Amino acid sequence: MSEAILQVRGATKVFGSRRRRRVTALDDVSLSVGAGEIVALVGESGSGKSTLGRAIVGLDRLDVGELEFEGVDYTHLSERRLRGLRRRMHLVLQDPYQSLHPGMRIGSAVAEPLQIAGAGRGAARSPEVGAALEEVGLTPAGDFLARYPHQLSGGQRQRAVLARALVGRPRLVVADEPTSMVDATLRASIARLIRELRERHGIAFLVITHDLDFAGAVAEQVAIMQQGRIVESGRTEDVFGAPRDPYTRALFRAAAQVGSIEIAASAGAEFKMN
Ligand SMILES: Nc1ncnc2c1ncn2[C@@H]1O[C@H](COP(=O)(O)OP(=O)(O)O)[C@@H](O)[C@H]1O
Ligand SMILES: [Mg+2]
Repeated sequence: MSEAILQVRGATKVFGSRRRRRVTALDDVSLSVGAGEIVALVGESGSGKSTLGRAIVGLDRLDVGELEFEGVDYTHLSERRLRGLRRRMHLVLQDPYQSLHPGMRIGSAVAEPLQIAGAGRGAARSPEVGAALEEVGLTPAGDFLARYPHQLSGGQRQRAVLARALVGRPRLVVADEPTSMVDATLRASIARLIRELRERHGIAFLVITHDLDFAGAVAEQVAIMQQGRIVESGRTEDVFGAPRDPYTRALFRAAAQVGSIEIAASAGAEFKMN
């Protein structure tokens, strides 16, 4: 396997205080993503996936644990130095409406990471923005620059969010539920697109999802998360071929019954009953 671009070691995060209910969102989580590798982090709602994604890009601080990117420990970097790092590490949020401001045209939204990195106000018309839109299949790019998010279909919005992730040429994209707002056929095309972007640019992806089918289609490594812990991880074909952890098996059983992923959300309940 290639050298790790991201390493998470012993990540622990507790929300709440003594007065409010305490939630251990992350409990000693370790995970690594190789350069140019696609890793899926799979788990039902509330298992801690988004908390891990936010901690990785430095939006939340860990209580315990270490984060390393391209061989550099960034666990305790100042906010200012983290900003520099975030150009090489991009977080795509679950809901495209969180990543694409409804009042901002697609060209400006995709250009925003360039502007944060110091490009001028004309960035929305720059060749990089056009190239990023074309790369995600929003062609011809000129037709999309002036549109607003609500003038795009759900699938096109997901693509625009990926264009925005790409434009700064990151080495790692953390994509939190990139298919949560689209239907099954579009999910397959988003999986293909992510794989193409990896092939073309060697970008590593940590894809967060509660969708086992999507994880299987997109990733070569998977990590299964339950209640803040990674209960099983390994090569996708190994984990899918012969899941060893009882919780992982319950997830697959539930998925087989319902034939989709909302399944995954009910698997926890089934598991607790057993
Ligand atoms: N800012 C927060 N304050 C308090 N609790 C939180 C916060 N963020 C997440 N949690 C809790 O941490 C747990 C994990 O949440 P999250 O990481 O969003 O899970 P997932 O993305 O897998 O659905 C949940 O119990 C959630 O309610
Ligand atoms: Mg989440």
